[in-house]
Amino acid sequence: MKHDVLDRKKAAALARQVGVDFGAALTVALAYIGDRLGIFKAVADGAPFTTGQLAQRTGLNERYLREWSATMAAAGYLDYCPRDATFKMNSEQSAVLASEDTTYFTAGGFQYAVACYRQIPQLMEAFRNGGGVPFKDFGPEIVEAIERLFHVGYETWVAQEWIPAVPEIHQRLLAGGEVAEVGCGAGQCLVPVAAAFPNSRFFGFDVDRTSVERARNKGEKAGLANRLVIDQVAAERVPFRDRFDLVMAFNCIHDMAHPRSALAAIQGMIKPDGAFLWSEADVGPRLEDNLGPVGRTLYGASTMHCMTVSLAQGGEGLGSAISEELARSLATEAGFVTLQRLPIKNPFHQVFLGRK
Ligand SMILES: C[S@@+](CC[C@H](N)C(=O)[O-])C[C@H]1O[C@@H](n2cnc3c(N)ncnc32)[C@H](O)[C@@H]1O
Repeated sequence: MKHDVLDRKKAAALARQVGVDFGAALTVALAYIGDRLGIFKAVADGAPFTTGQLAQRTGLNERYLREWSATMAAAGYLDYCPRDATFKMNSEQSAVLASEDTTYFTAGGFQYAVACYRQIPQLMEAFRNGGGVPFKDFGPEIVEAIERLFHVGYETWVAQEWIPAVPEIHQRLLAGGEVAEVGCGAGQCLVPVAAAFPNSRFFGFDVDRTSVERARNKGEKAGLANRLVIDQVAAERVPFRDRFDLVMAFNCIHDMAHPRSALAAIQGMIKPDGAFLWSEADVGPRLEDNLGPVGRTLYGASTMHCMTVSLAQGGEGLGSAISEELARSLATEAGFVTLQRLPIKNPFHQVFLGRK
C-alpha cells in the first residue's frame, strides 16, 4: 500500500512532538537523579540558590549541578531569576517534586520509569521470543516507586471515602471485623487503613518478598503488629474461606499471572455477606477511548511492567486497561453475583464493589 501524499505541516508537528518527548525522556532521567541524590529536597524550602551554594549544601559537583539546574528550569521544575542568576523552587514545584506527603507528589514516577528503562534489554528479548520480565528483576526500586506514587492517595481516600461508601461494612469495621488486602505491595493502603479501624484485624497477601518485608516493617512502625498479619502468598493460594468482612485489591489484579483464579479465590475468602472493593485505573472500554496522555502512561506502564510481569510467570498478561465492562465480566466469571462501580470521583482509580 502506498502512503498518502505527505502533509508537511502534520509531519513537522509530529517531529516537534517527538522532540518534546525526547526532551521529556532526558528530563525524567535527570529528575530521577535529583530525586535520588536529594537535590529536590535540598531546595524544597524555596530559598533562592546559586549552583555554587547548591554544591555546598549537597556536597555534589557544581558543574553537574549547573547543567542539571538549567535543565530543570527549562522543564519548569525550578524557577530561574536572570537578575542574580539564582534558581529557586516555588511552592507548587516543591509539592510535586519534594513533598512525599502531599497528593501532588509525583516524583515516584521518575523512579518507576527508570526502573523500567533498566529492563529494556530483557523486554526486547520478550518482544522477540515471548515471555516477560519477572517482577523481582525490576528490583526494590519499583516497589518503592509504586509505594511513593500511591501511598498518599490510599491514606487520603480508602478509610475516609471508599470504605464509608459501603456503610454497613464501614460499621462492621468500626465495631470490629476482619479485612484482607491482596496484592498489598509495601502496605501503602493496608497500614493506614488498619490504623483507622482499631477494633478490626487485618491480613495482607502479596507474592513479592521485598514488598512483604517492607509492608511488615511499616506495620510494626505503626504499632499494628498485634492485629496485622502479612504473608507472602499469591492471591489464588490464600488458605481462607468465608472469612473476611472485606477484601480489598487495589491496582493489582491486572498484574497477576492468573487474575481469574485470583478473583475466584477472593470471592471464596469473603463471608457470604461480605464485600470486595477492587480498584483499577479509570479507562474506557475501547482503545480509542484511551488515546491521550493518560492512555499512553497506562499502556506504556503496562507494556514495560504490568503485562510483562504477568507474562513472565506464564500468566495471562491482562494489561492495565481494565474497563468497567471487563471488570464486570471477570467478576461474574469468578462467581460474584454483583459488581457495581461506586459513585466515587477519583483522579486515577475507578472503584468497584463486588458481592457474592
Ligand atoms: C502495581 S502493584 C500494586 C500494589 C498496591 N496494591 C498499590 O496499589 O499500590 C501490584 C502488586 O501485586 C502483587 N502481586 C502480583 N501478583 C500477585 C498475586 N498473584 N497474588 C498477590 N499479589 C500479587 C505484586 O507483587 C505487587 O505488589
